[in-house]
Amino acid sequence: MKNQLVFILVFFFFLITFIHAKKYHLFGENESSTVSSTNDQRLLVDIDIYNRAYALPYFLRQLEQFTCPCSQCYLDFHLYRVFNTTIENETSRLLHEWVSAMKKSDQFVFTTITIHEWTAQSKDDRANRLSDAMKRSSVLDVTYLAMFDSMIILLEPEKILSILISKDKPLITPLLRSTKNMYTSTFYLNDQEASGFDTYKKIYDRKRLGCFSINGGIKDFYFFNFNHPKMRNVFLINRNSKEIQQHYAIDVIARENSIPSYVCNREVFGYIPAQFSETLHDEAIIYDLYIHTLIEHQLNGPSQTYLPPISRTSLIHVPLSKEKTKFGLDEIYVINLVRRTDRRERLQATFDILNMSVRFFDAVDGKYTIDQAYLERLNVRLLPNYEDPYNQRPMNYGELGCFFSHYFIWQDMIKNEYSNGILILEDDVRFDVYFKYKLEKILSNSSLDWDILFLGRKIMRPNEENYENTIETFLIEPSYSHWTVGYALSLRGARMLIDENPIQKILPVDEFLPIMYDHHPNSSWKSHFTNRKLKAYAFHPSILTPTHYFGEPNYVSDTENTQILEQNDGKTSLPAPELVSVDVAATQKRLEENARMQKDEL
Ligand SMILES: *[C@@H]1O[C@H](CO)[C@@H](O)[C@H](O)[C@H]1NC(C)=O
Ligand SMILES: *[C@@H]1O[C@H](CO)[C@@H](O)[C@H](O)[C@H]1NC(C)=O
Ligand SMILES: *[C@@H]1O[C@H](CO)[C@@H](O)[C@H](O)[C@H]1NC(C)=O
Ligand SMILES: *[C@@H]1O[C@H](CO)[C@@H](O)[C@H](O)[C@H]1NC(C)=O
Ligand SMILES: *[C@@H]1O[C@H](CO)[C@@H](O)[C@H](O)[C@H]1NC(C)=O
Ligand SMILES: *[C@@H]1O[C@H](CO)[C@@H](O)[C@H](O)[C@H]1NC(C)=O
Repeated sequence: MKNQLVFILVFFFFLITFIHAKKYHLFGENESSTVSSTNDQRLLVDIDIYNRAYALPYFLRQLEQFTCPCSQCYLDFHLYRVFNTTIENETSRLLHEWVSAMKKSDQFVFTTITIHEWTAQSKDDRANRLSDAMKRSSVLDVTYLAMFDSMIILLEPEKILSILISKDKPLITPLLRSTKNMYTSTFYLNDQEASGFDTYKKIYDRKRLGCFSINGGIKDFYFFNFNHPKMRNVFLINRNSKEIQQHYAIDVIARENSIPSYVCNREVFGYIPAQFSETLHDEAIIYDLYIHTLIEHQLNGPSQTYLPPISRTSLIHVPLSKEKTKFGLDEIYVINLVRRTDRRERLQATFDILNMSVRFFDAVDGKYTIDQAYLERLNVRLLPNYEDPYNQRPMNYGELGCFFSHYFIWQDMIKNEYSNGILILEDDVRFDVYFKYKLEKILSNSSLDWDILFLGRKIMRPNEENYENTIETFLIEPSYSHWTVGYALSLRGARMLIDENPIQKILPVDEFLPIMYDHHPNSSWKSHFTNRKLKAYAFHPSILTPTHYFGEPNYVSDTENTQILEQNDGKTSLPAPELVSVDVAATQKRLEENARMQKDEL
């Protein structure tokens, strides 16, 4: 909470150090003449546009969807020309282009749109954004004022203004929040005691629904209602502007004048990217936090189903970059069952946002592709005495399909001599916010020698992990682990795996890999493999996780709940015709393990 406060103070200092240099009205609007003498309600939307062109296509699309619930709605942009770079010019160009396109389109709901461009000159020149917005509200004689910035993401922009009006509170914010467990939102509490965070979490997680009076303050999105006389008196009056200038922050003014601020969370309003005071001035991290918000959104469907991506404006032409990255690797394979089109569609949008070039690799479908003839063709043999440690059952068809998918990719890598390495992802992968940053950092170090890098894994024996011995900040040497949700592989590593001829003694791929880096607890299984010298590292903490943990709603495994193979002296035989599901019995054990794991990740 303290960090939040520090952040806000720093943030406002940041805002107020710009001088208002140039102000012009795009359509030559004469402000004073627009004020009519009727009692109709008017509304001003006042927006800070930061110098981050990447957010504009998403943000402007939301504005296009606004509906005006009043007789007149005005839209003011404040574009900060702070850094004077090409990006800044790009932001300005996009904004002007969009405004002209809006004017021509039938989506135009605003009475006027005004662009103010601001330039930083010296720290002594302080323009007071708030008092400026208040003067403008006064001149336009508005009843409502909405202030926010271009980094927010609204899910139902067409409804938001009328919803906020209907709450009839003097000063409110819609709950906008960052991604899972990041706990940045449009409000903060002043509570110093531990219970404060509990209250915060209940509102943040929408365990309690409604509008809540906030003893700390609201931030990032303000909705003023000047029907409330105190709001008029404290904020609107021009002769008071000097007083306003002394405390720039809206939350401070509200607190000092005993105006209650409310956060409302009954409706799901949308997001703001996570904010940390440490990263406030690091534009690269701010970018990562923004795109992480976009990709996480797709995982927020009801009962953890997928949602379509946040849409972009089509009024202006913003090409997605044609060049995409592979992090210097030769290929990024994504294993996807052809019938799981939902997963492929989700990932396609995600990779566009992450600017990654990948190759979708059709998974071997254990349910429909593998039969006795298939196994005979590949000359598959089960590992003698292999038994699933959870269920005490032999391998099932899903696990076989999974093994073959990985195995064929290793072969493909060798065939193509991908000496720069590859990345293999499964299609239920969820990306951590620092995924790109950390992966780029590790892969760019050519003197780091590795065969396999686990980007995400399930730690099976936490007390055997060597957490202290970090390599290059992010890596440790993994002990026994499960999952193959994402790992990088070197050509030497792929050869080592294939040379063991593992399909002649097959076991699940996430048991095979720990055997090959020689950290498997079962020495009798291990003894079937000779060259167990894979040089393995793992990101700690993981930079990838699965989208769904075992037992969560809509957890659908493509390997579990498939038929199992009967074992007969190492030879395979066709299973009984009905589906044999023994996973249920092991549910409790795995749920407990997963709960522990998720706790470890925090
Ligand atoms: C703006 O409107 C006011 C009042 O109608 C008028 O006096 C003034 O001349 C106008 N200014 C411009 C620049 O048109
Ligand atoms: C911005 O950069 C341009 C050229 O790069 C320069 O002419 C101009 O003076 C700069 N503006 C400010 C406010 O620094
Ligand atoms: C930005 O645009 C202005 C004029 O529109 C130009 O003078 C300036 O050189 C541009 N700056 C950059 C970095 O492109
Ligand atoms: C995407 O990746 C390519 C290749 O690394 C790079 O040239 C481009 O600038 C990147 N674009 C974005 C938006 O990050
Ligand atoms: C190894 O696996 C076999 C077969 O599942 C099992 O019988 C044996 O107890 C295991 N050994 C160890 C040390 O876990
Ligand atoms: C690259 O990795 C090696 C081995 O861990 C390390 O000694 C070196 O400092 C790293 N270089 C950079 C630039 O991080």
